[in-house]
Amino acid sequence: MKINIKSKTRDYEIFIENGLLKEIDNYLDVSRKYAIIADDNIPDVIIKRVINKLKYNIFINFPHGEKSKSLSEYERIVNILIDKGMTKNYIIIALGGGVTGDLAGFIASTIFRGVDYIQIPTTLLSQIDSSVGGKVGINLPKAKNSLGSIYPPKMVLIDPSTLEYLPTKEFNNGVAEMIKYGLIHSPEIYDKIKSGNINDNLEELIFECLKIKKHFVEIDEFDTAQRQILNFGHTFGHAYEAFYNYEKYLHGEAIGLGMLQVISPELKNDLIKVLQKYALPTSDPAKKEDLIKFIKQDKKVQTKGINIVLVNKIGEAYLKEINIEEL
Ligand SMILES: NC(=O)c1ccc[n+]([C@@H]2O[C@H](COP(=O)([O-])OP(=O)(O)OC[C@H]3O[C@@H](n4cnc5c(N)ncnc54)[C@H](O)[C@@H]3O)[C@@H](O)[C@H]2O)c1
Repeated sequence: MKINIKSKTRDYEIFIENGLLKEIDNYLDVSRKYAIIADDNIPDVIIKRVINKLKYNIFINFPHGEKSKSLSEYERIVNILIDKGMTKNYIIIALGGGVTGDLAGFIASTIFRGVDYIQIPTTLLSQIDSSVGGKVGINLPKAKNSLGSIYPPKMVLIDPSTLEYLPTKEFNNGVAEMIKYGLIHSPEIYDKIKSGNINDNLEELIFECLKIKKHFVEIDEFDTAQRQILNFGHTFGHAYEAFYNYEKYLHGEAIGLGMLQVISPELKNDLIKVLQKYALPTSDPAKKEDLIKFIKQDKKVQTKGINIVLVNKIGEAYLKEINIEEL
């Protein structure tokens, strides 16, 4: 399956195919020089599939986890790339989950004033969401993703068969973002997640989710209006992550909690049941006042208030500007 994304910077293709990595030389020019960036928790078998077919490469490992989306890790990797002789004609490959994509993509957008990069997402969350749309960045201690850019990849290669190695908790983390797509844009996706077995048609579901991402990215690439619909649940979700210093929840788990804070009361119980089906958290003791402190630092806060995404009917979301007190 193939999706083309139109971007102001460059158009690019997403390829989705089980077993794609075993034939990676059909997609990449093996005579080019690549710098592969991956965390230290990706199964070796996946790394080998990529490395074996590429002749020229630099390979860099970094500690897995959200904490690596940091200035210090950014600087460390850039220094290694330069020490290993990387030049502007190298292509960076972000191999792994959303943390790798965000960090390696941010490096690509800044090193030598920008080099090409390819996203090879290997978690469900990164395959349906973070690898597409060009948002890259790192966290500062005060706020998540506060340093970054919108820098589209050259290509996105998705091999859903890599998900067979993903622990259930990480898989369910991605399901939370799938639920989000259903709630904001597709009753069909929501229903498949609620009533069916996701694994029965995973490739198709990934494709359907990415078509929704394409829709919002293409109408508002720079995230000034409609693209913010994709942030449903993220205002409170990011606050939960930051409140617990990125240690208690995976990103999707926090987004699930965030969606519960803003979904209409009529849909809330149904969403709780769906989240529970995938062992995602549905309650947390953090006080709203404490979360609001983090929300005030969120980059989406404008002078007057904050743009919040609301869902009153499954498949239909809208943006509303409200002030912090109302929130
Ligand atoms: N840029 C965007 O548009 C965007 C969108 C959504 C989320 N994000 C970001 O994505 C990040 C979360 O991404 P994530 O959930 O993929 O987490 P992650 O990148 O930390 O990956 C989770 C873990 O799974 C391991 N892993 C990866 N692939 C594997 C595989 N196939 N088998 C076994 N283990 C594997 C990784 O090594 C890691 O330990 C957050 O930082 C979030 O802010 C970015």
